[in-house]
Amino acid sequence: QANERESLYLVSEFAKDYFHSTLLKTEQGKAIGLSYFKERGFTEETIKKFELGYSPDQWDSFTAHAIKKGYSLDYLEKTGLSIVKEEKQFDRFKGRVMFPILSMSGRTLGFGGRILSSEKKAAKYLNSPESDIYHKSKVLYGIFHAKQSIAKEDNCYLVEGYTDVIQFHQTGIQNVVSSSGTALTPEQIRLINRLTKNITVLFDGDAAGLRASLRGVDLILEQGMNVKICTFPEGEDPDSFARKNSLEELSSFLEENAQDFINFKASLLASEAKNDPVKKADTIRDMVVSISKIPDVIQREVYLQECSRIMDISEEVLFNTLAQLLQKDR
Ligand code: CTP
Ligand code: MN
Ligand code: MN
Ligand code: MN
Ligand code: MN
Repeated sequence: QANERESLYLVSEFAKDYFHSTLLKTEQGKAIGLSYFKERGFTEETIKKFELGYSPDQWDSFTAHAIKKGYSLDYLEKTGLSIVKEEKQFDRFKGRVMFPILSMSGRTLGFGGRILSSEKKAAKYLNSPESDIYHKSKVLYGIFHAKQSIAKEDNCYLVEGYTDVIQFHQTGIQNVVSSSGTALTPEQIRLINRLTKNITVLFDGDAAGLRASLRGVDLILEQGMNVKICTFPEGEDPDSFARKNSLEELSSFLEENAQDFINFKASLLASEAKNDPVKKADTIRDMVVSISKIPDVIQREVYLQECSRIMDISEEVLFNTLAQLLQKDR
């Protein structure tokens, strides 16, 4: 088993190098992939640091090359790099720009591949399937390049996407990772928890799914960590914002806009529920569920007080709701 996993690592590392050199050295790679990244404002230094790549727009260029170099189709299929159908082989990531996903120690686990032409109906991002070396729920994009900075700054920025991580680095902020579109998991949070107790979650300014994403944040509270939330202006995400701003501007934006999670959520819910009593009751329960996740009793009490003030509800009601919830959990 250890041998098989090692083979999967090797074929993934081979693929990473192949996509990277295809981007930098082939005519097609330069004309299509490299110019795409440059248009997005990524410098050559950034492209090399994250070993970004390009997968040729032919049916099996990569797969054929890998087999010629002695990699077995079996492992290519197990990593999801190649797809075998009716005895024919295909490249999964054909015609996409490639983001290698590295482990904490820098091994290549899988890939995200972004489509270039917007008229195609295919998914914008395609990701490696689960394999013996790639478990989506246990991986954070960017963790290898961020770990030292997370420990040093004693804070971790959590963003939605690959390009957000990369653009932050280019602007000068390195303590940043991404859950890459999947819902946040306890294992991902544990990776960060080993390095710092402080997380600042940065949401794209598209409001879609903000409420749903907030549920995932409860998982951070459960691990006894401190959470702040920062949202970006409508239509912006951390990537587009960092691209338009200097390090000083980005840093002060983050400093001024990062709000304590409980306060953020209470304000958001209070404004949504305003004059609707039924909604307000739901909202109170939702809020108390979040507070109930906090392991520290004193901290919970402080948040109940804050929440009572922000949502204009007596502390007693909140306290009783919390007591009920905690009882149910026992
Ligand atoms: N994602 C995905 N599959 C999709 C769409 C998104 O896996 N079909 C993941 C990707 O990891 C992506 C993240 O969710 O980086 C955030 O999605 P989104 O904000 O839509 O993409 P961006 O990262 O902003 O990408 P871009 O700027 O290239 O559009
Ligand atoms: Mn988004
Ligand atoms: Mn974006
Ligand atoms: Mn985005
Ligand atoms: Mn910038």
